[in-house]
Amino acid sequence: MIDRNLQPYDADGDTKGGRNLAFISAHIMPHIESHCALGYNALDLGAGNGRFCSLIRHSFGSIVCVEPVDTQHDNFKYPNVTWLKKTLETYVGENPTFVNIFLIGSFLALEREYGDKLFPMLERLLFPSGKIFIMVDANQGHSFESDILVSSQILVEKDTLLVIMERKCQY
Ligand SMILES: C[S@@+](CC[C@H](N)C(=O)[O-])C[C@H]1O[C@@H](n2cnc3c(N)ncnc32)[C@H](O)[C@@H]1O
Repeated sequence: MIDRNLQPYDADGDTKGGRNLAFISAHIMPHIESHCALGYNALDLGAGNGRFCSLIRHSFGSIVCVEPVDTQHDNFKYPNVTWLKKTLETYVGENPTFVNIFLIGSFLALEREYGDKLFPMLERLLFPSGKIFIMVDANQGHSFESDILVSSQILVEKDTLLVIMERKCQY
């Protein structure tokens, strides 16, 4: 049986686990708009078919979509969007940094694949004043442990959690 958490969605992610674009637009976008550095660069990590980047592409200067599965989707064909057929692990070595990093439905796949190595890789990708936005299933009990990042959690719907991670204050 295919684990949909590990695969790109074939259409709009119109499953309970996927949260379709109408849901993301109504429930996630308002939080993104109030917490993000709009106009700056963004990383869509585990971008699937690019449906999320097509939603946010007007809000950011440039968007890099890292997705190892080749969907050849039109969602990636915008001037400010770049799709890289890579995994997080292969991309992080290139030392890019982003002001905004999105893991929309992809955290579980990455957590399973990288375990304790996941947060150190995310920290390397994050610009010093940047933020990481993670949309997860609230019922799956993820852990957001990082030495240098702190998380705030917004329950957007009873089964959908938006986690925002940013650097801990240093006094
Ligand atoms: C449940 S899908 C979510 C897709 C997309 N974010 C969306 O909302 O439509 C999870 C995605 O993570 C991708 N993925 C799995 N392992 C990955 C890795 N090591 N690096 C980057 N992406 C990965 C999968 O190929 C899949 O497209």
